[in-house]
Amino acid sequence: MGTNVNQSAPPFPPLPLSSKARRTAEQPISFLITTALHNPGLINLAAGLVDPLTLPVEECADITRQIFADPARGRAALQYDTTSGLRDLRRELLAHLARLEGVDASSLGFTAEQIVLTTGSQQALYLVGDALVDPGDIVIAGNPSYFVYTGTLASLGAEVLPVPMDQDGMDVEAVATLLARLDREGKLGRVKLIYCTSYFDNPTGLTLSLERRRRLVEIVRRYSAHHRILILEDAAYRELRYDGPALPSMKAMDPENLYTIISHTFSKPFAPGLKLGYTAMPDDLLHAVLQQKGNHDFGSANLTQHIALQALRDGSYDRHVDVLVHSYRAKRDAILAAMDRYMPKADGLTWTHPHGGLYVWLTLPERVDTSRQGPMFQSCIAHGVMYVPGDYCFQPDESGKIPRNHLRLSFGQVDPSQIVPGIERLAAVIKEQLSPASEQSSPAPEGRKNLAHGASRGKTAEATTSPGGA
Ligand SMILES: Cc1ncc(COP(=O)(O)O)c(C=O)c1O
Repeated sequence: MGTNVNQSAPPFPPLPLSSKARRTAEQPISFLITTALHNPGLINLAAGLVDPLTLPVEECADITRQIFADPARGRAALQYDTTSGLRDLRRELLAHLARLEGVDASSLGFTAEQIVLTTGSQQALYLVGDALVDPGDIVIAGNPSYFVYTGTLASLGAEVLPVPMDQDGMDVEAVATLLARLDREGKLGRVKLIYCTSYFDNPTGLTLSLERRRRLVEIVRRYSAHHRILILEDAAYRELRYDGPALPSMKAMDPENLYTIISHTFSKPFAPGLKLGYTAMPDDLLHAVLQQKGNHDFGSANLTQHIALQALRDGSYDRHVDVLVHSYRAKRDAILAAMDRYMPKADGLTWTHPHGGLYVWLTLPERVDTSRQGPMFQSCIAHGVMYVPGDYCFQPDESGKIPRNHLRLSFGQVDPSQIVPGIERLAAVIKEQLSPASEQSSPAPEGRKNLAHGASRGKTAEATTSPGGA
């Protein structure tokens, strides 16, 4: 008896992973973290983390003491709550959202019942995708876009179609053109979502202009004759605003609560360790999202929700946002001043001037390769500075190419004293890359098309990877 056992075969049968698991690419966050750990002197302008020096440690210690000084409150905080989350907190957040919009809560178009509390806003983004997207469905997103979410969409099997970004954020006329084309091709039925980081975008720092907000809402209404297409407005950085007007959200332009979802988080304006997000959405979507959340965790951490509730009620949340705005504004000014001072003047070398958030997006002449495999990234590590290669943030064009001449800098986590030396080091490497000698030795990647400047129909995002929750 007995089968013929092949000597080179593994000693156990293969594991049949799900198609979703097989679609899910590794996040290069691990590579960036390992690089930072192996190079202790490195100035890390890559990490999208918030500043450890401004985390609300005393406020949270105080709040937690108060919660546990009262046994009834302590017991409530240590018990499960509902899948939607603590009702008092959702009510408080409704009032908070109304303040952000500058309107009365009664005119928001949704109530506390249409708000769900999630484990970070990432869980809400995931659940919305999960509730709406079947493999092969289409999601439209800016190019570049928040890489973690495009990675999530790829793992759900979505086809992420890119539209360009400019100084006013996502090019919404390109969205209209794309929808018209999909309609002609009979594919409109597959379009589920338009994903837009409307305030101080990750990775570009850009904000969607007021006019474009209105127009995008109009566009989705127009193309929603047979099924509703939803705008997923990711407002993670909204409250980190250093100058410029406080713009209303697209949610505020949707008084019937039919076409828009808005997700917020405590991670950026307060503390990511709470891992708490809140999202308002149409009723029918909410129902589907809650069913999915029931499968995930049937409710996010309740203690965290009690801490957030008190921080909102006793004013420590608002005071903390003021502290952060003050401190990040100074860091934003420092990084932009250092770039003005140290970056070489060269055609094709530009960067964004964000009015909020944590990121500056740098564009280099097309012949410079900023990717992890390219000479510039390696040289930066040798010079002791790290950035996020911009190619992580792009969808491929029709020929499968992605631009490799951009990079993302973050002034979030870096110590203020390291900003000038970090930019000096980066500028030295850029000078080296722009020098005629380097021009000869680094061949320009073929067939490159700058998606940041031209609408292009992308392929699925399956090949994209992302540098993690950043
Ligand atoms: C644009 C954007 N959206 C969402 C998130 C998710 O953050 P969290 O899950 O901590 O709320 C992040 C985190 O970096 C982000 O940059």
